[in-house]
Amino acid sequence: MRIAMIGTGYVGLVSGACFSEFGVDVVCVDKDASKIEGLHQNRMPIYEPGLDQLVADNVKAGRLSFTTDLKAAVKGADAVFIAVGTPSRRGDGHADLSYVYAAAKEIAESIDGYTVVVTKSTVPVGTGREVERIIKETRPDADFDVVSNPEFLREGSAINDFMRPDRVVIGAESERSRAVMKQLYRVLYLIETPIVFTSLETSELIKYAANTFLAAKITFINEIADLCEAVGADVHDVAKGIGLDGRIGKKFLHPGPGYGGSCFPKDTLALVRTARDKGAPLRIIETVVSINDERKRRMADKIIAACGGSVKGKTIAVLGLTFKPNTDDMRDSRSLEIVPALQAAGAKIQAFDPEGMNEAKHMLKDITFCEGAYETLEGADALAVLTEWNEFRALNMSRVKAALSAPIVVDLRNIWSPEEMAAEGFQYTSIGRPSSPRA
Ligand code: UGA
Repeated sequence: MRIAMIGTGYVGLVSGACFSEFGVDVVCVDKDASKIEGLHQNRMPIYEPGLDQLVADNVKAGRLSFTTDLKAAVKGADAVFIAVGTPSRRGDGHADLSYVYAAAKEIAESIDGYTVVVTKSTVPVGTGREVERIIKETRPDADFDVVSNPEFLREGSAINDFMRPDRVVIGAESERSRAVMKQLYRVLYLIETPIVFTSLETSELIKYAANTFLAAKITFINEIADLCEAVGADVHDVAKGIGLDGRIGKKFLHPGPGYGGSCFPKDTLALVRTARDKGAPLRIIETVVSINDERKRRMADKIIAACGGSVKGKTIAVLGLTFKPNTDDMRDSRSLEIVPALQAAGAKIQAFDPEGMNEAKHMLKDITFCEGAYETLEGADALAVLTEWNEFRALNMSRVKAALSAPIVVDLRNIWSPEEMAAEGFQYTSIGRPSSPRA
C-alpha cells in the first residue's frame, strides 16, 4: 500500500509516521519547503514525545519520505489523506476550509488510477461531499471515492493514541473504499480495535460530537469544582465518586483553568455555528463555550485574591505556559489570557515552561523568561502553576519556599495536596478544594 499525506502539521505528521510504522509506504507533502528540509534532517516542526525516533526509524526503513511535490506523491497512491489546517475563520467561528478545498483541487489534477481521498483534518459536516464535487468538477474522468477518517489524537500522547486507539471511525460509502481503509488499518484489526463504518456525514459529525462532549465534561467538573469551593467539598472525591459509575467514566474529570489548545476551543465554536445555521442549535455547547471563556478571567481573579486582593507592583512566578503538558503548543492556552490580566492589574511576571518558551516569546510580552523552575521563583511574591508538567510536581518544596519572598501558591492544576502544602507552611489555593488559611 502507498499513501500520500497532504500537510505535515500535527495530525499529518503523526498519522504519516504511524501509518509507515504499520508497514505502509508513506509520502508526506507540505508546501513549506523549510519544513520539508527540516524533516529531511529529522528536525520535527512540533514537539511530540517519541515522534523524532519514529520518523527516523521509518525513514531509515525506506517507508517514510517527505516532499514538496504533491503531484508526484499523489500519482499512483492508493489513498491520499488531506491533513491540512482548518483554523477558525475570523469573525464567524466557522472552520476555514480554503486549504482543504485547495488541496482537493490539486489532488484531483494528479489522481492516477483508483484513489481513495480521505479527509483527516477536522472538517464540518458536508465537507466530504464538497471535496467529492470539487474533484469531479476538476477531473470528470477521475476514478475515486471520498472517505472521512477523523483523528482522535491528543497532543503529548498522539503516537499511542494512533497505535492503540479506542476506536477508528471511517465514513466510507463504497465497498472498494472500505477495502482500502481496512487494508491500511490492518494492524489495528489484528488487535481487535473497534472500527466504526458510517456515512460521510455521520463520520464528520462523530468527530465534533466527541470533542464537544469532552469539552462539556471538563466544563461540568470545573463548575462542580467552583461549587465544591463554595460548600467545602473536595472535587477530586466528587470526580471519583461519579466517575466510578461506568455510565459517566473517570476520564476528563480533572478540574483546571478551563480547556484550551488547538482543538476544543475551535471545534466547539464551529459546531455551535453549524448547528445554528442548520436550525438545530446546540444550547448546551453554546453555554459550555461561554463558561469556558469567562473562566479565564476568574482564574486571574483567583490569583489576585490569593495575593491579598492586589498584585500591583508584585512579582508573580508563573510555571507552565503551554495549554497542557508534553507539548510546545501555545494555541488558545489559558496563559495567554491569565498572564496579560495579571499584568494589567500591575503584576510583573517571571515565567518558565519546559517546551513552550520559544512559542511563548512571540505571544506574551514584557515577561522575564527564566531558565528553570527554581530560578523563576527567586524573589517572587507568589507562585501560580498554569500547566501540570511532571517536573513541577517533583519540585523540592523547601527550596520553593526558600526562593519565594512570600509562601503563596496558586495551583490551577491541583498538582499538590492541600494537606502537604499546609504542612510545608504554604498559603495554598487550588481548584475545588479547601484553601489553606492565609499565612
Ligand atoms: C483533543 C482530544 O482529546 C483528542 O481526542 C482530539 O483528537 C484532539 O483534541 C483534536 O481534535 O485534534 P488535545 O487538544 O491534544 O486533544 O488535548 P486534551 O488532552 O484533550 O486537552 C484539551 C484541554 O482540556 C487542555 O487544555 C487540558 O488541560 C484540558 N483538560 C483535559 C482539562 O482541563 N481537564 C481534563 O480532565 C482533561
